Amino acid sequence: MAMGRFAEPKMGFVVLLLWFMSGVAGAEYMAYKDPKQEVDARIKDLMDRMTLEEKIGQMTQIERKVATFDVMKQYFIGSVLSGGGSVPCPKASAEDWVKMVNEIQKGALSTRLGIPMIYGIDAIHGHNNAYNATIFPHNIGLGVTRDAELVKRIGAATALEVRATGIPYAFAPCIAVCRDPRWGRCYESYSEDHKIVQMMTEIIPGLQGDPPANSMGVPFVAGKTKVAACAKHFVGDGGTVKGIDESNTVIDLNELLSIHMPAYYDSIRKGVATVMVSYSSWNGHKMHANRDLVTGFLKDKLEFEGFVISDWQGIDKITDPPHSNYSYSVQAAVLAGIDMVMVPENYTEFINDLSSLVKNKVIPMSRIDDAVERILKVKFVMGLFENPMADFSLANQLGSQEHRELAREAVRKSAVLLKNGKSDNQPLLPLPKKAAKILVAGSHAHNLGYQCGGWTIQWQGVAGNDLTTGTTILTAVKNTVDPSTQVVYESDPDASFVNSNNFSYAIVVVGEVPYAEMWGDSSNLTIKEPGGSTIGKVCGAVRCAVVVISGRPVVLEPYVAEMDALVAAWLPGSEGQGVADVLFGDYGFSGKLARTWFKSVDQLPMNVGDAHYDPLFPFGFGLITSGSI
Ligand code: GLC
Repeated sequence: MAMGRFAEPKMGFVVLLLWFMSGVAGAEYMAYKDPKQEVDARIKDLMDRMTLEEKIGQMTQIERKVATFDVMKQYFIGSVLSGGGSVPCPKASAEDWVKMVNEIQKGALSTRLGIPMIYGIDAIHGHNNAYNATIFPHNIGLGVTRDAELVKRIGAATALEVRATGIPYAFAPCIAVCRDPRWGRCYESYSEDHKIVQMMTEIIPGLQGDPPANSMGVPFVAGKTKVAACAKHFVGDGGTVKGIDESNTVIDLNELLSIHMPAYYDSIRKGVATVMVSYSSWNGHKMHANRDLVTGFLKDKLEFEGFVISDWQGIDKITDPPHSNYSYSVQAAVLAGIDMVMVPENYTEFINDLSSLVKNKVIPMSRIDDAVERILKVKFVMGLFENPMADFSLANQLGSQEHRELAREAVRKSAVLLKNGKSDNQPLLPLPKKAAKILVAGSHAHNLGYQCGGWTIQWQGVAGNDLTTGTTILTAVKNTVDPSTQVVYESDPDASFVNSNNFSYAIVVVGEVPYAEMWGDSSNLTIKEPGGSTIGKVCGAVRCAVVVISGRPVVLEPYVAEMDALVAAWLPGSEGQGVADVLFGDYGFSGKLARTWFKSVDQLPMNVGDAHYDPLFPFGFGLITSGSI
């Protein structure tokens, strides 16, 4: 083509066109960015482009506190989490959360290949880290309902509230089968009976959406109103000796597979996107280093195709003392089949150690590729590449009235009526709404933090009424009784006070204070003092309904005989109105124990079906009443 001193005008157009086309051609078509491509094709295209550093970055999950833009970009970080209580600011709004998550995401998207990061959080009874979120009953109460459809609705509501804050991944459900209530996490378990836990895995399609038929093992998340779920903690976390958290589950393979494994079958069948490994050991073998179970069983036999994530510093605890040989921890965990490591702060050490192990051929590249392919599959399936940035469109879902009504329904259905009337008189419940004067007493009557329990706003929970929004049981009673009824509140009244006031009846609310994980391990299972003495003083003077707020069955003797009525409300969460709904008979009691209520801790462990079974209240027990609504 003859070019004049200056390209003629028509030539100028041609040159411009060629430049434009070269520019577009220079952009190069990238299949992994094309949502019209099959997921497997997108994974292969992206994997072929990735360096070892970029692959290891995808396997690295760090805590939000260290997740700066530069760290995300420099280390190609694939995931970030909020640990318990780790929030953008105190009482953060949905908008505060979205802005924080988006800022971190921008760092991930600024990398060479622009792979979006996935942000995870413990939303285990609603979006429990978030101020003003709906706090649902903990799993121990939900198991009592035996209502899979209810739990699915709770999953859907939780997904909306988590997405309202810009987060697409929840470390839930815990599908532990707690076999000893001395375990500090027993309230995170739906039941001692694996069949109830299996039923409750219906929360997974609530959280993620309903998977396509015949998609066994394939992770599924149905878009921007759903979240990736996490079945945890694999496997046998609820079976440790004496319920000691993170310790050793000593049972044979048959018991492991028949008690602790069944809910994983259901979870995988329902398309769970991720599985978290347990801190505990099985017969002395750390689960975080157990290749036979993580790879051999979960991935190969159950054909799980999502990704396996470690617990918080879970790989550190492979060695004793923890972190005493971190390179070995990395080697053992990754070779066992862990795909993503919840580091969560010493990420440079993790990245450097893993890089060295691969370069020295201790860990084969094929293991790295398997891990990254699984992580990318979840990210592609859930649409994270198409929608990496959150928006404010769901902000009004956080703590919505609709969700609070759902939680209130769950509170009603999770309450168990264990006693109603003494031998010599009539049932006390339902309580009359119209009475001259009633007493509400007990350490847990007006304490939102107590009724929510652990994993609420803070990892260990928070006492008092300022932690978030909700309705205490005292407020619920006041909301329910006739306006003419005088309600007197005394946390721990003297017997003389009770005797001299001529109360029509009393409601006494006592129980456990909040705890999480190993901080809840207990060898005595007693309730917070002055719980027992309050019962004695009040019930000795007036007809009383005792409501127990606890994360598990607790020691109730010798007080049961003094009670006219006894209700187990577990950890009901923010919507205490549900307790009043059944106390005053608007709704009937329907709950049946999903755990054995022992007489004495000396009997433990004691589960339904055991040869020696002598409970105070047996598994499946609950008095049923009808409601007026
Ligand atoms: C905790 C828990 C686990 C939780 C994780 C992240 O230690 O064991 O259930 O998902 O760390 O907070």
